[in-house]
This record gives sequence, C-alpha cells and structure tokens, in this order.
Amino acid sequence: MTFHQPVLLDAVVQWINVQTSRGIYCDCTVGGAGHLLALLNNSVDATFIGIDWDPEAIAYARAMIMPHKERCFLFEDSFVNLGLILDRLKITYVDGVLFDLGVSYHQVTTPERGFSFDRSGKLLMHMSPHTLPLAEKLNQAQREEIIQVLKKYGDVRSARKIGTAIFENKRSLVTTLDLRNLLEKIIPRRYLKKNLHKVFQALRIWTNNELKNLETGLTVALARLKQHGRIIVISYHSGEDRIVKNLFREAQKRGEVLILNKKVIRPSKDEVEKNPRARSAKLRAGEKCVVS
Ligand SMILES: C[S@@+](CC[C@H](N)C(=O)[O-])C[C@H]1O[C@@H](n2cnc3c(N)ncnc32)[C@H](O)[C@@H]1O
Repeated sequence: MTFHQPVLLDAVVQWINVQTSRGIYCDCTVGGAGHLLALLNNSVDATFIGIDWDPEAIAYARAMIMPHKERCFLFEDSFVNLGLILDRLKITYVDGVLFDLGVSYHQVTTPERGFSFDRSGKLLMHMSPHTLPLAEKLNQAQREEIIQVLKKYGDVRSARKIGTAIFENKRSLVTTLDLRNLLEKIIPRRYLKKNLHKVFQALRIWTNNELKNLETGLTVALARLKQHGRIIVISYHSGEDRIVKNLFREAQKRGEVLILNKKVIRPSKDEVEKNPRARSAKLRAGEKCVVS
C-alpha cells in the first residue's frame, strides 16, 4: 500500500499544539496516518481518535499506530458522525480536531479504486463502500444534474456539452478509460489535460458528497471543541476552502472562534516539488473561544 508524505506536516503539528497533558485529539481524515503518527510521536499522554470511512485506510493506519495503540482509537466511519463517535466514548469536548480533506495518495494511485484518468479501473470513485459508485450514480442521474455537478464542483467551461455527452453515453461508461475516451472525443486537445482533471474531480466530489459532508463535519467539530481547543483544516479545492473560510468567519462573528491565521498557510516551493499533490493545499486554523 502506498501513502505519501503528509501535507503541511510542520504547520499541522505547530497549530494543533498538542499539550503534554492528557488532552483528546481527533484526526477526522486518517488516510495513511502520516499526520496522526507525527502527532502521536510528538506527545506522550494525549489520546487520539482517528476516523476514516475507507476500510483500506483504517487497516493500514491500524498497523502504523500499533506502538501507540493504548492511546489511539480508530473508527471506520464518516466524520459527519463525529458527534455520535464521541458520545459512544462518553467524551463531551476535545482539545483539537484535524481535517486533511480530499483523497489519499493511496486512493488516487490504486487503479481498481477508479479515481484516476491515468489508470484503468472500474468507474467507482467512492471512498467508502457505503457510498454509491460513480457509474451507478451516473445511471440514476438526470442530464441537468450532471451539468450542474461539472459547473459547481469543477468549474468546467463547457459543462453543458460535456455533461450532455456523459448523460447520453452513461450506460457505456464502465471504466475510467471509457470516460477518458469519451472526453478525448469532445474536448479540444489543448484543453484536454486540464479538463480531464476538472471533470474527474467534480465527479469525485459529487460521488462522495464531499462539500455537504464537510459542512456537517466542521459544524460538529466546532461544537465539540473545548475552550482554547484548536481546529485545523487543510483543503485542496476552492469549494472546500470557501466553506471553511465562511464557517470560521461566522463562528468568529458570534465570538465562538478566533481565526489564528489571517492568511491561509500554503506549502513551500520545496514541499510542492517533493509532493506535487500539495500544490493546491490551504491550511486554516481556529481556536475555540466560548463553549456554548
Ligand atoms: C488527504 S487524505 C488524508 C491523509 C492523512 N492526513 C495522512 O497523513 O496520510 C484524506 C482522507 O480523508 C478520508 N475522508 C474523506 N472524506 C471523509 C469523510 N466524510 N469521513 C471520513 N473520512 C473521510 C479519505 O478516505 C482519505 O483517506
């Protein structure tokens, strides 16, 4: 299994500010456990709750955190259920929460998961086995819905033309390469690469209901933070970042959160060179002021 160097690792460790005391921290997107493991290694007594809805991520992370298994508890679930998970553990408030959004390196580079236009695999793109795969979702979708998905989540210029072609050919779109071949027929060559990326990303966000989940997950996380507890969010897409920015701003206006970084934190040139996936990363951090 392949997982990549965690994005903005130093900033995450710095901003979440794990205390040596017995704090409780949640990594809501465990993935390859890169951030989680660094946070565990940087603390002695703190307890960690790790969540990921991808069973492959949880299985991998379980092996990685083995030396810390007494103070790290993993859950295969969606972070929208963070509140239920905490209730089950009889935990009311936590000291820090991390969201590192989007897909993991393992998910995009495993052809059978169907995320990538460069790798042949069934058109799945679902991160959780409880979510409908893309090919099935397309089969149930109306033309207008597909067009709106391309517009809203991918900012695709010819959304109507591409969405209509996808709709009309949806029954024959079984693999990632079927979709790529269709797009190659209708998108001019010089715009192809950029549009392949945009269309695949938009369909992935739709398949996994990523923006709605983020809104719910963040709202629950903010409600369950202790006074002075920290929330760190790394996003990779303008739609995600907008949600984080607006939710933080609204919470700050209500006096519930203090935004810690006025400007988003971006990875260094050096980090992007080593890990091109980090190039679109934006980190925002907040601190809870009042516990309602
Ligand atoms: C960018 S990766 C996280 C990488 C991780 N921070 C690391 O250091 O390896 C994002 C992870 O979030 C998970 N994820 C995305 N949406 C989720 C959701 N609603 N609930 C739980 N996990 C989710 C994905 O399955 C993926 O494994």
